[in-house]
Amino acid sequence: MRVICHLVEDRLLDSDDLLGAVSDAVAQLTGSWALVVLDARTGRMVAAAHRSPLLAARSAAGIFLASDISAIGDWVDEFHILADGDVVEVTNDLVWTNSGIPAVVPAPIPRPPRPHFSLTVEADDHMAAEIREQPEAAARLLEEVGGRIATGELWNDLGLPRFDRMRVVACGTSLNAGEVIGSALSRLGGLGHSSVVASEAAGSVVEPGTLTVMISQSGETADVLRALEEGPQGSPVLALVNNVHSTLGRKVDAVLSCAAGPEIGVAATKTFVCQVIVGTGLVISALVASGRMDVARAHRLVNDLYLIPEQLAEAAAAARALLPPLVEEVRGAKGFLFLGRGAGVAYAAEGALKLKEITYRWAEAYPAGELKHGPLALVEEGTPVIVIDDDDHRLAGNIAEVRARGGRIITIGRPGSSVEVPLSLAAPCGPLAAVVPLQMLALGLAVELGFDADKPRNLAKSVTVD
Ligand code: M6R
Repeated sequence: MRVICHLVEDRLLDSDDLLGAVSDAVAQLTGSWALVVLDARTGRMVAAAHRSPLLAARSAAGIFLASDISAIGDWVDEFHILADGDVVEVTNDLVWTNSGIPAVVPAPIPRPPRPHFSLTVEADDHMAAEIREQPEAAARLLEEVGGRIATGELWNDLGLPRFDRMRVVACGTSLNAGEVIGSALSRLGGLGHSSVVASEAAGSVVEPGTLTVMISQSGETADVLRALEEGPQGSPVLALVNNVHSTLGRKVDAVLSCAAGPEIGVAATKTFVCQVIVGTGLVISALVASGRMDVARAHRLVNDLYLIPEQLAEAAAAARALLPPLVEEVRGAKGFLFLGRGAGVAYAAEGALKLKEITYRWAEAYPAGELKHGPLALVEEGTPVIVIDDDDHRLAGNIAEVRARGGRIITIGRPGSSVEVPLSLAAPCGPLAAVVPLQMLALGLAVELGFDADKPRNLAKSVTVD
């Protein structure tokens, strides 16, 4: 096995052409990579990428190479994306080649808008600012797409064929959003859906008439890109991303933006909320466009979507007032259970993911009915059990089961809950507002325990490796 710099060095023994040396070296590589080679003797620099994001940008502040525009957005207005096989020398300018042949510099792409929030004294981390920004992000998104949902335009403008079932492929929080979106399709339109973890998508069977929806806030997640390469088996692919110029956005049949704006905290918050809203809007729009939902019903559902920004704001206010003593009470707990029923299950999963990601505590999410099939054994005196209480009458029995074992029940939802938030069983996105206290519980506990919520250990914002 040779290291890449030795491949380059060998070639430089015969010539001082760094660009040619890197082109020859990368032609011998397999796998996915993005690299920048610096010749320490001359200061020359050459960049190349293959199945891994890399972009180049010029501005008065200099020339930049980065894997994500958000890293350099403060200094540049536009950028160029390196395609597979591109090798670029950075001089006073960008010298673009592909497979050893001079190439035209690809068209510049304008930098997306910068974050809308500013960090304040009471919210001195990005995650807090991004949670705070959710009502505004949701309102912005609805302003952009709300008028095109009930008319069917949001769906029709994508130019995709009619479909009979949906297959969501995603990871982590995006997968949880996909589960909410898929279950909206089943609940509102009676069509089937499945959710597939992207890293396990390879073996899954895609039936005819399936629309594959790949969801990824970054659009650079390697597992999702691999699932795309390994084949949606004839199914058209729609990408739901926060960056339409991302690798995923560029490779699929149609792309829809969740338009959440830049998200810096590793824990996804406002992108989740925006994915759920635009994905649910898309479902309604597709049902109208295919004649499966009447326009009057679609308008009523869109009106429900317009209530979301206010509901998120109310949920945040309730969580700010009521969570601090609860956080204090559970700070010593080693493990947490999150329960929901129906549409609440995906939100329970999201609450558990947030908590484990930034507090390093074990957290399990289950449909509440599953308790008695195993997880109830975990409940002991004081075990925190967080319940998304959207008024499903079956929850009372599950809560009683936990209480009988001494578990500390924290309910989020209907009046009388530990944290009351505006939820309705009929809401098109299910109990979306519940996610705000779940995010704030995780953040509050992380801060209480002294952890940096923006940079959780072992994790990255964009997971560009398999
Ligand atoms: O960029 P993506 O949406 O594809 O990322 C997928 C997951 O890596 C991501 O959602 C991860 O689970 C979050 N950090 C959770 O907060």
